[in-house]
Amino acid sequence: MRRSELVRDPPPSNVRIGKGALIDDDVRLGSEGGGAPVRPIDIGRDARIRGGSAIDAGARIGDRLETGRNVSIGEDTVIGADCHIRNNTVIEGDCVVGDHVRIAANCFIARFTTIGDGVTIAPGACLANDPHPGSDAHGCLRGPTIERGAQIGMNATILPFVTVGERSVVGAGSVVTRDVAAELVVAGNPARVLKSISEVVCPLDLEEGDYLRAATHPDSMRPAPPPSQNWK
Ligand SMILES: CC(C)(COP(=O)(O)OP(=O)(O)OC[C@H]1O[C@@H](n2cnc3c(N)ncnc32)[C@H](O)[C@@H]1OP(=O)(O)O)[C@@H](O)C(=O)NCCC(=O)NCCS
Repeated sequence: MRRSELVRDPPPSNVRIGKGALIDDDVRLGSEGGGAPVRPIDIGRDARIRGGSAIDAGARIGDRLETGRNVSIGEDTVIGADCHIRNNTVIEGDCVVGDHVRIAANCFIARFTTIGDGVTIAPGACLANDPHPGSDAHGCLRGPTIERGAQIGMNATILPFVTVGERSVVGAGSVVTRDVAAELVVAGNPARVLKSISEVVCPLDLEEGDYLRAATHPDSMRPAPPPSQNWK
């Protein structure tokens, strides 16, 4: 394990790791071939990055990132503070992820996706960026924008160019083909509006009122970080 304050197994040059970070030895930082990454990698304080994970050149990550095993973070992706990314999730390059974001296991986040503060993404969700996969028009790519506090259910698919509005909830297994306004619950294939989030009740009556309050920290209620330099 690499601990940033121990120089027993120093990271490649061009990789800055904040104090207190704990990174397993079999985490790849930079390109497949080894050596220093072409563009610097920046990992904040107190990160915990588990084995089999890979972080590509140009990635910039805030404090206290926690990953599961085999998490992949692509080139030039920018991730805020206090994020958790679980086993086997792939975040491709040129994505922007805010603070306090939770992405569960086995998710796929395509290149050019924007995820706001306090977003939760349940296991197996896929966010797509190419409306016509297999076409040669590779310029026509844009991942979804998931606005802050939104919640994406298990195995949901969000299609390219779609925006899911602030604090909206996407039901499990849904395919979201059109923009979703703020504070709505949508579900189905294609996803349709079921209700307002204010109408959702807890099946166990555990909490009254604002049941779907997003799991955001008060400090995170500010705009998502600016897109990375290469975001188009
Ligand atoms: C979408 C969701 C939030 C709606 O919850 P709810 O407000 O309690 O909705 P209800 O159970 O009252 O269902 C309302 C209607 O929507 C339908 N519905 C609910 N969830 C649906 C879904 N995911 N896909 C399609 N239809 C759905 C119900 O069958 C019901 O239809 P009906 O009125 O014809 O019987 C919830 O069903 C859901 O999918 N949550 C995500 C769960 C998840 O992925 N968790 C991840 C962590 S484990």
